[in-house]
Amino acid sequence: MDFREKLADLIIEKYDQFQREEILEIIEIPPQEDMGDLALPCFKFARTFRKAPNLIAEEISNNLAANDYFQEIKNMGPYVNFFINKELIARTVFTNLLKQGERYGSSTLGKDKNVIVEFSSPNIAKPFSIAHIRTTVIGHALRNIYKFLGFNTIAINHLGDYGTQFGKLIVAFKSWGDKETVEKDPIPELLKLYVKFHDLAEENPELEDEAREWFKKLEEGHQEAVELWQWFRDVSLQEFNRIYEMMGIDFDSYAGESFYSDKMDAVIDRLEEKGLLQDSEGAKIVDLEEYKMPPALIKKSDGSTLYITRDLAAAIYRKETYNFYKNIYVVGSQQNLHFQQMFQVLELMGFDWAKDCIHIPFGMVSLEDGTMSTRRGRVVFLEDVLNKAIEKTQEIIAEKNPSLPDKEKVAREVGIGAILFQELSHSRIKDYLFSWDTALSFEGETGPYVQYTHARANSVLDRANVRSFADILAINNEEDPVDLNQALEKGIDFSLLLEDEAYQVIKQIYSFPETILKAMERNEPFLVTRNIIELAQAFNKFYHEYPILVDDPELRKARLLLVLSTRTVIKIGLNLLGIEAPEKM
Ligand code: ARG
Repeated sequence: MDFREKLADLIIEKYDQFQREEILEIIEIPPQEDMGDLALPCFKFARTFRKAPNLIAEEISNNLAANDYFQEIKNMGPYVNFFINKELIARTVFTNLLKQGERYGSSTLGKDKNVIVEFSSPNIAKPFSIAHIRTTVIGHALRNIYKFLGFNTIAINHLGDYGTQFGKLIVAFKSWGDKETVEKDPIPELLKLYVKFHDLAEENPELEDEAREWFKKLEEGHQEAVELWQWFRDVSLQEFNRIYEMMGIDFDSYAGESFYSDKMDAVIDRLEEKGLLQDSEGAKIVDLEEYKMPPALIKKSDGSTLYITRDLAAAIYRKETYNFYKNIYVVGSQQNLHFQQMFQVLELMGFDWAKDCIHIPFGMVSLEDGTMSTRRGRVVFLEDVLNKAIEKTQEIIAEKNPSLPDKEKVAREVGIGAILFQELSHSRIKDYLFSWDTALSFEGETGPYVQYTHARANSVLDRANVRSFADILAINNEEDPVDLNQALEKGIDFSLLLEDEAYQVIKQIYSFPETILKAMERNEPFLVTRNIIELAQAFNKFYHEYPILVDDPELRKARLLLVLSTRTVIKIGLNLLGIEAPEKM
């Protein structure tokens, strides 16, 4: 049931001078609860009506009568405000929840469509820092959201396992490295070598030449170079996989940059064929001046290829392999230009699917004492952050709830959940400052707060011995939705859920499916985070105001329905964000 549509119907019926679309576009949600559920601002109509907006609002509301969908319609200043029929919205919400259960909000919208979500893509031999947490967490959530909406998702980790930096690392390792030391603690040791290389290269530029040469050797398949590179890659991946496992993340493909090392000639040939390549001081470029961008450097004068060359090869390979409907890159906004250039080149190459390649940027993470820099060795390791969060959770459990079953598991789910949730609680494009204090605070609008609300709802249900909707409705088969629906209609008195506090909960649940859709359309998982925070807050208000396990069986049933629904939706939401919802906390 879409009340915006109903609102538009109502207006169009009375005023045929309006277009449905234009009404739908301007409908707002009033800022305060006592102002109703939807509002129609009348500023835009002043010209048509030749009247002041508040007079128009008055006229329109006088012309519209309350009906099945809206129990009250009244004007407030220049707005017509609509109060949705509360019983109807409750009935709609619960019917859908009953039908879909833990699939509430899912759809078949994406049926037979392949969506690639490329995310995480860390660089081999470098730390998996909190800068990578953003792409990892946002990308993972997006993948879940697309999947939930019926798309066929392909999660790709475009590992940074190729490029001139491996020349540097080879030089550094050969000069100062030691196999055993690296094997004991691979990434920090490799990082040390990398940092040392940069420190020394400032004074000795010939080191850079040596590094270039070693990268060249790597591209040409020189045995020692390839073996060292393979080893760097293996030990790095082991580390990364440990972190992915902690976060419950997996990928369908780890085809990173090196995967395309033998697929770039074809790209260069095609660029050549299309007459797109130009010589520039011995290098090959695609001129993009017409598009107000610097040229795309495709091949250096020494013959080595670049990041963008590999990305072009990757995009073409993905189209051929997956025939994608969308090819999404979750990568920081520092790379905006790179993606604009690359998509432009694809278009110039004549690929009409270039428009289906989408860069989803996000803001930068900085540290309180300045920016992070791998070269300077100033990084915060993601694994440390996760471990600290887990430790802190363990301390809290030991203090507040030492007899909690499965303590270790819960501590992991809550600790890691806190970090992931924080990542997803701002619009992705915002830059943000990493602070240990905020990351480890469990107060206010945090993951643990939402998880706790879920556990609280759960414990009420436990006390009532309720596990499913069928339990509340006291019927045996949960399988047959028709039966369940009838039981719902017969068994629940929706007029018992009309308190403001209950209604706010219902409204949040009502908007959940629409939120998921919007999150997909805007590639913005944070909308889901907002929805479940607001749901948790609304539920807690209700919970503090009204006892649930009351004697009156009708009231008890109705309230339990609200509790079970809240629990279900919070769990779905957390899971979409890649966060666990522990039963007990
Ligand atoms: N490895 C890169 C980095 O850590 C990100 C790769 C982004 N993906 C791509 N297809 N270019 O900065």
